[in-house]
Amino acid sequence: MSKRSRPDPPEGRGPSTQAVHGGERDHQATAAVTTPIYQTSTFWFRDSAELRDYAEGKLVREEYGRYGNPTWKAVERKLCDLEGGEETVLFASGMCAATTTFLALLPRDSHLIVTSDCYRRTRQFIRQYLTKLGVETTVIEPADVKKFEDAIQDDTAIFFTESPTNPYLRVIDVPETVRVAREHGVKVVIDSTFASPVNHRALEDGADLVIHSATKYLGGHNDILAGAAIGSKEIISPIREAVGVLGGITDANSAFLLLRGLKTLGLRMERHNQNAQRIAEWLEEHPRIARVWYPGLESHPDHAVASRLMSGFGGVVTFEVDTDLDGAIRFVDANRIPYIAPSLGGVEALIEMPVLMSFWDLPREDRLALGITDGLVRYSCGIEDPEDLIADLAQALDQI
Ligand SMILES: Cc1ncc(COP(=O)(O)O)c(C=O)c1O
Repeated sequence: MSKRSRPDPPEGRGPSTQAVHGGERDHQATAAVTTPIYQTSTFWFRDSAELRDYAEGKLVREEYGRYGNPTWKAVERKLCDLEGGEETVLFASGMCAATTTFLALLPRDSHLIVTSDCYRRTRQFIRQYLTKLGVETTVIEPADVKKFEDAIQDDTAIFFTESPTNPYLRVIDVPETVRVAREHGVKVVIDSTFASPVNHRALEDGADLVIHSATKYLGGHNDILAGAAIGSKEIISPIREAVGVLGGITDANSAFLLLRGLKTLGLRMERHNQNAQRIAEWLEEHPRIARVWYPGLESHPDHAVASRLMSGFGGVVTFEVDTDLDGAIRFVDANRIPYIAPSLGGVEALIEMPVLMSFWDLPREDRLALGITDGLVRYSCGIEDPEDLIADLAQALDQI
């Protein structure tokens, strides 16, 4: 395959330039401006000599669709640019990124530290499957570096946390956490789904690995499921090997949609950040709202850390409506613009009550122990006009 000679933009360009141009120009077989969808499961060799050269590492090319595809390789390069990492691996979903990473990096019978405010399925994987490998887990409060240090054991291999977390949007002091982790040889893995590389680049703060549910802001259009892990060549190598064996790869169509979605990441994040900040401030003043969690508000426990580490606070606002379960349901149902749906990070606003969406199967006292109250609402701002979203919220709150 002959490569065209105009190189990808150099490192150090802004996130929007990298999002539009990164990873694509220097790798095109033709002069197409957009990377095509390579809809193929396998790649042919001219003769056995070519195959032998490939097997001996003298030739870099694709072989079989589970090990690589030019469409998803373009996404991987673009995400390296955006996160400031050496290597990226794409996965079929965010869950696949987390589970494959755990399986690849955790030694048998080792120890893992995770934070309590965490996507429920990640927690389920740890409890239900990692225990079978003898992995012991300690759960700590997010954003408490002292508790993290106290939890470290001789066999602790990984500290895994979201930042911001779900649903309370706690922000981890990554540089301080990394400083402590390094003293004990613990790897720090940050699920940056809620931040996106536009708002926070955890690798620059010293994290060993960043993972994403690319289903959310990276894809940005509520139309694909995908995941990604980004880090050094050294840390990614066993993860890439694991995805080749476990098989949770993305497909070329989803990779193309992800590539397309990524091009507007900078613009979309700007609007998500602005919408969420305005809505959070408006909600905080509303008499029917008991509490708002948004890192861009001074009232948020991690506002200072978030202001230091993040260049924007994201598009999700979590709040407690001052009513009972039925009142909260009346409020959610009265909203006319957001869809009632799980997920976040797309151009369409989505609204959900965690109690119904993810935790309804648990007894109420167990839900409350996890901080999931009856009036809790998670609102993922889309890129709509903020005045329209606020007017819609206002009329919905009047109907409680
Ligand atoms: C923070 C976080 N990580 C991971 C996931 C899982 O991602 P996916 O749904 O793409 O498997 C989610 C899903 O909501 C999430 O919110």
